[in-house]
Amino acid sequence: MAIKTVGVVGCGLMGSGVAQASAQAGYNTVVSEINQQLLDRGLGMITSNLAKAVEKGRMTDDARKSVLGRLKGTLVMEDFKDCDIVIEVVLEDMTEKKRVFSALDRICPPNAILASNTSCLSIIEMAMATKRPDKVLGLHFFNPVQVMKLLEVVRTLTTSDETIATARAFGESLGKKVILAKDTPGFIVNRLFIPYLLSAIRLYESGAASKEDIDEGMVLGCNHPMGPLALADFVGLDTVFFVANALFDEFKEGRYAPPPLLRKMVAARYLGRKTGKGFYEYK
Ligand code: 3HC
Repeated sequence: MAIKTVGVVGCGLMGSGVAQASAQAGYNTVVSEINQQLLDRGLGMITSNLAKAVEKGRMTDDARKSVLGRLKGTLVMEDFKDCDIVIEVVLEDMTEKKRVFSALDRICPPNAILASNTSCLSIIEMAMATKRPDKVLGLHFFNPVQVMKLLEVVRTLTTSDETIATARAFGESLGKKVILAKDTPGFIVNRLFIPYLLSAIRLYESGAASKEDIDEGMVLGCNHPMGPLALADFVGLDTVFFVANALFDEFKEGRYAPPPLLRKMVAARYLGRKTGKGFYEYK
């Protein structure tokens, strides 16, 4: 199946990144938000990312204008009516996800693919809110979407081979390396990544070392671009907590259990970069 028009539901940090990647790859892209303020903020992030790319000489000004010309922001779900694939990037809340999938199923052409960017929720539950579970799958992008080269394509019990093949080709057309995972919480990367972050938080909580030394240890000792505590702040401590809980609920393994310090920081709204304070402070 040929994809020409792409929809993205949600224009936050991840949604705006997905919409930008799609428009940059040459697709007409419709991106929605729930109110004008959030839409303006999301489109503003794309505009400023593209301007920076031109400044750094990585994109011509003409290319920037054509990318923006392919992007359409909307507040109306009906604008997804001509999309060949729609990617849902809304809050990690199953009730909300099911509501979005059911609306997309009603609005989109019958052969359109519907995808979720969830990090850990059950995609088959979203698929069963539609009448096309063979055309539903996960497309899990990584933050910052513009920089990270990976895309996890997630297959449920009902996803067809054709849907997987189309989604894989679509991901590759965005310049991503595609890996295939089954519909289990955390897929491949978060199954390994979340216990790593939780171990770093436990190590810090135990008093074994300072946060700076833990981070420097992993940056210089393992060549990671960021240490685990800085990375937890970057991802958002609420997100780390949410995914950890989802993994723990499913597998009941101690390595997924959120450490008390993480729970307390989330309660205090020390969520990392997004609130200006997490393990570190941000201006
Ligand atoms: N949006 C767009 N571009 C960005 C960006 C952003 N938010 N942040 C950085 N960049 C670009 C910069 O413009 C720069 O581009 P250039 O090389 O063309 O000039 C390049 O990335 C490098 O940026 P900087 O020089 O400013 O800074 P760093 O070299 O420190 O890189 C980083 C920043 C890319 C964020 C790097 O530190 C990194 O890769 N960190 C790890 C990120 C990571 O692990 N992400 C996965 C999180 S897990 C996840 O998303 C899954 C979820 O389910 C939890």
